[in-house]
Amino acid sequence: MFKLILIFFLLAQSLLYANPISDRQELMRDYNKLMRAANNLIRENEINDDLASIYEEIEEIMRVYPTLFPDDSFGGKSKASTDIIDNRELFNQIAKETENSAALAKLSAQEGEFENVMQFHQNLFGSCKSCHSRFKN
Ligand code: HEC
Repeated sequence: MFKLILIFFLLAQSLLYANPISDRQELMRDYNKLMRAANNLIRENEINDDLASIYEEIEEIMRVYPTLFPDDSFGGKSKASTDIIDNRELFNQIAKETENSAALAKLSAQEGEFENVMQFHQNLFGSCKSCHSRFKN
């Protein structure tokens, strides 16, 4: 019985902690949802701290995101292109630029600067295509 519990525990742990594929896919779904939430606030002209905290979460996602692609994590359920392995610098750079856009969008939202929020928000929207076209199958 004890062994069974131990095995179950280890299995659960590996599912929860050692699965970069599901971790990064979940972060992408979060990013998608956060962008929609940001859209809604912008549409209602709510350039405020709530909007800033959305961008802060996106900033955090993009800081972690490129660390979730170890060489042995391709294929299977992943749609990540192995180009990531061959072009890590470019991949990391796109993630870094996205992180920076999110940081600037956050500051602009905190300052209530509508025009700047719009610009950095657009940059975040552009990030999906510029990364996916190159690094997602
Ligand atoms: C730095 C690169 C990068 C950026 C920026 C990026 N993505 Fe992705 N995205 C990926 C990669 C790589 C995958 C495939 C990951 C995998 O399946 O292992 C992916 C997968 C996804 C998925 C599928 C998640 C799942 O459940 O399998 C969604 C949804 C998604 N991205 C949405 C977005 C949206 C929306 C944006 C922009 C607002 C965005 N992504 C920006 C690299 C990026």
